[in-house]
Amino acid sequence: MSWRAVVLTLFPDMFPGPLALSLAGRALADGVWALRTIDIRDFATDRHRSVDDVPFGGGAGMVLRPDVVDAALAAADPDLPAICLTPRGAPLTQARVRDLAAGPGVALLCGRYEGVDQRVIEARGLEQVSVGDYVLSGGEPAALVLLDAAVRLLPGVMGAAASAEDDSFSAGLLEYPHYTRPAEWQGRAVPPVLLSGNHAAIAAWRQEEAERITRERRPDLWAAYRAGADRLPAPAARRN
Ligand SMILES: C[S@@+](CC[C@H](N)C(=O)[O-])C[C@H]1O[C@@H](n2cnc3c(N)ncnc32)[C@H](O)[C@@H]1O
Repeated sequence: MSWRAVVLTLFPDMFPGPLALSLAGRALADGVWALRTIDIRDFATDRHRSVDDVPFGGGAGMVLRPDVVDAALAAADPDLPAICLTPRGAPLTQARVRDLAAGPGVALLCGRYEGVDQRVIEARGLEQVSVGDYVLSGGEPAALVLLDAAVRLLPGVMGAAASAEDDSFSAGLLEYPHYTRPAEWQGRAVPPVLLSGNHAAIAAWRQEEAERITRERRPDLWAAYRAGADRLPAPAARRN
């Protein structure tokens, strides 16, 4: 059975959007994964089809109603992990993406306006996930980010030519830099070791570059990587 994505949204026309193209699009066409959108507005009960209301306690903006969102969630596949996309959520990580890709799929609730009434998030036990420390106008671009990251990890999607193993975050480090032809461009040469044909030296250079870049750009990742490496029995094991 395909990996299943269910997206609950007020803007179903945003899907599959960019996921209809390239690797994800081919995999969608080939049935590696399936996408279903649920239009939250279909679950409104009044004649105006309202999905939101003013916030208790005052303040600007509108809040998605718990009864409408709950009815929409009831229409999603109950066996899928259900995620509410919100800037208040836990940051999305490659590890979480890997877990989701290894499961049956995911149901994603996209907020709009000021967000979703907290009671339905709690009543449904939704996992709250953020795609970064910035505020989008809606959960849809966040859902596209999460789905893109997960779908590329599904078996067969990337093919033999590409591998996720070396990607940034896979080993707790950012990835080393890449170079292709020409070997010299605008007076800039490719690092000589990459032209040496010495695979051990190339692997060592890439590892050093990955460590240097992570140390310089992401002290948080570097500290976690060091803590993990310190738990390993011998330094040689860390190089593999
Ligand atoms: C304008 S935002 C609401 C922001 C909310 N008032 C706050 O400050 O936390 C509307 C919707 O966009 C989505 N969204 C915005 N930024 C996001 C992020 N960084 N990660 C995931 N979803 C996000 C959420 O679904 C949110 O309910």
